[in-house]
Amino acid sequence: VDLSLANTLQLPARAAYFCAPATLNSLQDCLRQAHQEALAIQLLGGGSNVLLPEYLEGLVVHPALKQWWLEDQGDTLLAHVGAGVNWHSLVMATVEKGLWGIENLALIPGDCGAAPVQNIGAYGVELADVLEAVQVMHLADGHLAWLTAKECAFGYRESIFKAELLGKVVITRLVLRLKRHAAPVLGYGDLAQRLGENPSSLDVADAVCQVRSEKLPDPAQLANAGSFFKKPLVSAEQAKTLLEAYPAMPHFAQQNGTVKLAAGWLIDQCGLKGARFGAFGVHHRQALVLVHFGGGNRPELLAAAEQIAAEVKARFGVLLEIEPRLL
Ligand code: EPU
Repeated sequence: VDLSLANTLQLPARAAYFCAPATLNSLQDCLRQAHQEALAIQLLGGGSNVLLPEYLEGLVVHPALKQWWLEDQGDTLLAHVGAGVNWHSLVMATVEKGLWGIENLALIPGDCGAAPVQNIGAYGVELADVLEAVQVMHLADGHLAWLTAKECAFGYRESIFKAELLGKVVITRLVLRLKRHAAPVLGYGDLAQRLGENPSSLDVADAVCQVRSEKLPDPAQLANAGSFFKKPLVSAEQAKTLLEAYPAMPHFAQQNGTVKLAAGWLIDQCGLKGARFGAFGVHHRQALVLVHFGGGNRPELLAAAEQIAAEVKARFGVLLEIEPRLL
């Protein structure tokens, strides 16, 4: 099965077997069959945050659970969402109903089932802010279980699904708490300036879409996987030394005393915006995004990323970590 178009970086990739179960029962059947035939199981959502190898042995499971519904709870509502629902279409459906909570996360590519894995976040909001619970199916025996948001151990682009539960469960459903009353989060960047008084959640989502489309390449036009590096964390001392040399450096003090830096700014400062590395390149408007012009492969992409990280390390002494997941 060809997966080149099932990953937004369009890396050449094939899988021995592929299934896209649309119900919990068929998901259980897929798992049972994989066990019977001793096939390794690899999960794949929207393919927008992964670096696929050229060949995946075993069975690739793409959850296609697409049901979702709202449960009225008075001032708030619970959205019960199948893992296969496209994230952006969920955002737009909720803001069109006037609901608040995920409007800042508009236009993030991928499926809902992948959202908790890296705790998607943008413009001052993270999934963790609205998530109530996650339903998972254990790969070993197909049994279902629930995790509370606390049990998901969310951090910046981190969760239990990248740690203890990695390779053990498939996320089947999310429960999000949304609000009826206006609760805008407009503190990030120039979001507030783009909006008038009393914006609706739809207005906020539209503004976010505007900002994102100005800076981030649309994977349908130019293959990419969003931010390629995480924001690095440095010690307070290192941040202080760097700020003396680079007073304009964006920096975000963390509660534990460490300081988060903007990876895109660091790469940009190295003069790498728009730099070309064979089939890959640093996007010309957003240095944090690596784009694929076609014909490249994963080793070439990783070599380009290493070169970029080496330049940042040499100039700033800061280590960049790759954000998408290496399967
Ligand atoms: N910057 C530059 N040059 C660049 C890019 C950024 O100087 O080429 C500067 C900006 O001017 C700004 C700072 O770096 O001062 C931060 O940039 P921006 O606000 O555009 O956000 P980001 O750090 O590039 C992060 C997330 C995005 C998320 C945005 C908005 C990570 C790794 N990335 O990007 O998430 O949409 O903030 O909240 O945390 C993703 O994870 O795939 C992703 C797109």
